[in-house]
Amino acid sequence: MITKKPSESLTILTDLVLPGETNYLDNLFGGELLARMDRACSIAARRHSRRIVVTASVNQVVFSKSVPVGSVVTVEAKVSRAFKSSMEIYVDVWIEDRQSGLKTKVNEGIYTFVAVDETGKPVEIPQISPETELEKERFNGALRRKQLSLVLAGKMEPNDATELKALFIN
Ligand SMILES: CC(C)(COP(=O)(O)OP(=O)(O)OC[C@H]1O[C@@H](n2cnc3c(N)ncnc32)[C@H](O)[C@@H]1OP(=O)(O)O)[C@@H](O)C(=O)NCCC(=O)NCCS
Repeated sequence: MITKKPSESLTILTDLVLPGETNYLDNLFGGELLARMDRACSIAARRHSRRIVVTASVNQVVFSKSVPVGSVVTVEAKVSRAFKSSMEIYVDVWIEDRQSGLKTKVNEGIYTFVAVDETGKPVEIPQISPETELEKERFNGALRRKQLSLVLAGKMEPNDATELKALFIN
């Protein structure tokens, strides 16, 4: 089985926030940001697997700061762990100050994508070998997050989520 690095799936999308994409407070509409995140994750999943990919779940999205109209928004997605056919993708969102160019993190999310064949049947994908400290940290937590997502979706019995349960026992 082939093993790939998280950096091989790195996807960076940079775009403006235009007036038609905002809410009543002139900040980026949440659904628009989710769409940009989903697109970046989809490309990252495709780069990792080189297959057709579909969104299986959006596990966690944190809107920590609003994004004003006119902002330059950068969405950065990278596969953090691959399982048999599914991949966890971490996505970080930044805005940059117009004058200084300094970047502020405004949002992060964790998505699960599944690689499928032309009939929609899940297919095996390459594994991941993390390199940086952050990549290793995200890799190590991914199995627990997969179990939580499956439990919440009613696809796994809580009692079978061994690694997730261990979080509460230790
Ligand atoms: C995602 C999908 C392919 C999964 O199909 P399935 O019949 O449930 O297949 P499986 O049960 O074998 O699951 C396949 C993989 O997805 C994982 N998975 C399925 N649902 C999941 C969830 N809610 N959270 C995390 N992982 C999930 C399984 O654990 C399995 O992972 P593994 O192969 O790496 O161990 C199917 O549900 C689907 O096509 N959903 C619609 C996708 C879609 O249209 N997305 C939006 C537009 S792109």
